[in-house]
Amino acid sequence: MFHEVTLLNLMSFLRLHPDTLEEIKERTNIYDTISEYVVLKRRGKNYVGLCPFHDEKTPSFTVNADKQLYYCFGCGAGGNAIKFLMEIRKEPFNQVVLELAKQHKISIKDLEEENTEILQARISLQNQLYEILATSANYYEHLLYEPIGKQALDYLINKRQLKSETISKFNLGYSPEGWETLYSYLVKCKNYPVSLLEQTGIIKPRNKGRGHYDTFRGRIMIPIKDIEGRIIAFGGRSLNNQEPKYLNSPETSLFSKSNILFALDQAYKNIRNLDHAIVVEGYFDVISLHEAGIKNTVASLGTAFSKTQLRKLLRYTDSKQIIFNFDADNAGTKAIQRMITEIDSLVYSGQVQLKILNLPSGKDADEFLKFNQNSAEKYYKLINSAPLWLGWQIEQILLDKDLKRADHFEKVVKEMMILLSKLSDYNKREYYIRHCSEILSQGDTRLIPIYLKNFQLQLAKPIANNFNSKKSKQFTKANILLEDQLLKEAEINLLKVYLRYSEYRRRISKSLEFKNLFFNTKEHRIVWTKILEIEDSHQNKNKTDKDQLSYRLQETIWESSLVETCVDQILSFSELEQHEDNERLDLIIKASLIFLEKASLKKYCYYCKIKYQMIDKNEDLVNFEYYLNEYITSKQKILKLQLSQSLSELDANDN
Ligand code: GTP
Ligand code: MN
Repeated sequence: MFHEVTLLNLMSFLRLHPDTLEEIKERTNIYDTISEYVVLKRRGKNYVGLCPFHDEKTPSFTVNADKQLYYCFGCGAGGNAIKFLMEIRKEPFNQVVLELAKQHKISIKDLEEENTEILQARISLQNQLYEILATSANYYEHLLYEPIGKQALDYLINKRQLKSETISKFNLGYSPEGWETLYSYLVKCKNYPVSLLEQTGIIKPRNKGRGHYDTFRGRIMIPIKDIEGRIIAFGGRSLNNQEPKYLNSPETSLFSKSNILFALDQAYKNIRNLDHAIVVEGYFDVISLHEAGIKNTVASLGTAFSKTQLRKLLRYTDSKQIIFNFDADNAGTKAIQRMITEIDSLVYSGQVQLKILNLPSGKDADEFLKFNQNSAEKYYKLINSAPLWLGWQIEQILLDKDLKRADHFEKVVKEMMILLSKLSDYNKREYYIRHCSEILSQGDTRLIPIYLKNFQLQLAKPIANNFNSKKSKQFTKANILLEDQLLKEAEINLLKVYLRYSEYRRRISKSLEFKNLFFNTKEHRIVWTKILEIEDSHQNKNKTDKDQLSYRLQETIWESSLVETCVDQILSFSELEQHEDNERLDLIIKASLIFLEKASLKKYCYYCKIKYQMIDKNEDLVNFEYYLNEYITSKQKILKLQLSQSLSELDANDN
């Protein structure tokens, strides 16, 4: 029968059969696995996101679904789905593999027969819990249509105005008033062991004395299902104003409230099709919306919306659009604020496009649909015009404030500043700076540029300090971004020419070597190293013809589980014509090398500046003078390069 085995003591003697491991690998989808932890966006054939293994602001974590591999260009982490789970959960190989097997219902073969039995037992325990919950749901559903459930059915049909199809689609049911109705049914008619029933959360041990009682009594029963539609818990709504109004199953091995979204099993395909998801507060909001044909809707289970729940939803939308439709009352607003605090790292960095919908006259979705004609259409209109989360947040700041009053005005500016300063996306920030300035101007357009400038100055402070520039701070920042972009392009051009035109290879590698130049972008550096490795492995370099080198590069990059995003860019020749003339190629190489040289000089220049600033010249005059001199010389070199750059730009324009 049943062996109670904990995963941990199993670990020690588990030796998996290779077949099992193969099957697990085959059935595990790396996108599904990783998107539980990382918000992934599609980029070409791959997905990218912020690396969970190191701190970063721009995504360098890449998932290749074809190869079922991930790789981070920032920190070098990489591997397959199993490796990812081991790293992120800090769990040993065996534990991860077992979990995956359980998840995919793969029967486990161990090299030793006896262990296989124990492992199967663990999995069949889970299956029995599912079975008990399904049996209970059937029982509740059955009772809804019996005389004993008449009041409940009336409530659903008349009070909640639900169609009978909807009631059966959600498998709604009724739990009768008695203390042991379900208990007796499951134990006496179905012969389930009490210990298993207890593990499903649908019965509870009595506080005093022996015996058990039904968790749900006299309630409308709403089955809660996992993504595959298996029942894992229940929500129960009271009928005659008993408290609490809603009761949920306790947390069990199958059910963790903060990870589950109600109705996701019915909604996820629609979320995928419509490319956005709607999140509401209550079970009945979801049920009514689905009935009205708005089927991309889910709800959290009366708990604060968690990051895990958000990530679950984001898997199904490419545009990452989520609309929160919570009550406009105090509790609803608080719920939204709490939710934003919980997920703010995803929100402020722009990984999710959050919109907030408050329905007119404080109604919830369920009430709105009942009290309006053509309500689904109206609801959709409201969804489409819902303000982006930031706009909503700004509206909240303005609530109960009179901008004509100096103290209110000051408070509003301060709160806007805090909000704006959290936005890491430059364009988004600029957009909202304008938006806030317009609000503050209160219709006097002459004031807009003044507020605008003020915001920009205040917000640019920390950035400007780093670079200590006398120029306008915003200008400096934009300039740095542009320089970065140009440098990246220069590096790509060099690599492209190198791969495509073998006659220029010597010149490029000699120049790099001679001036001691490196590629600045990590991915490019990796590609360059790979190129050198490939060439090294061929005795006669010149024989590595252009296509072969490109081909081998792609091969190596794949094999080493690096992902080919940047390689794609380098290998594509769309911008660089098939047959460039020599003159232009010459110019491209020259100009690109200048960018690399400038970047390297800038780093050195900055280094020397820090050095001489740190040295006390009364104590160490020699070094002080040395670094100061180096600083000035490198600065002059940079200026000279800049000059030659603008000249070569003139040349280029002449062509
Ligand atoms: P109806 O009155 O049935 O329309 O409910 P509602 O969804 O409009 O009610 P409300 O806004 O009060 O609740 C929204 C959600 O919060 C519910 O669907 C539950 O998930 C949860 N909730 C509400 N009241 C309780 C409670 O007393 N206990 C628990 N655990 N959850 C609750
Ligand atoms: Mn309601």
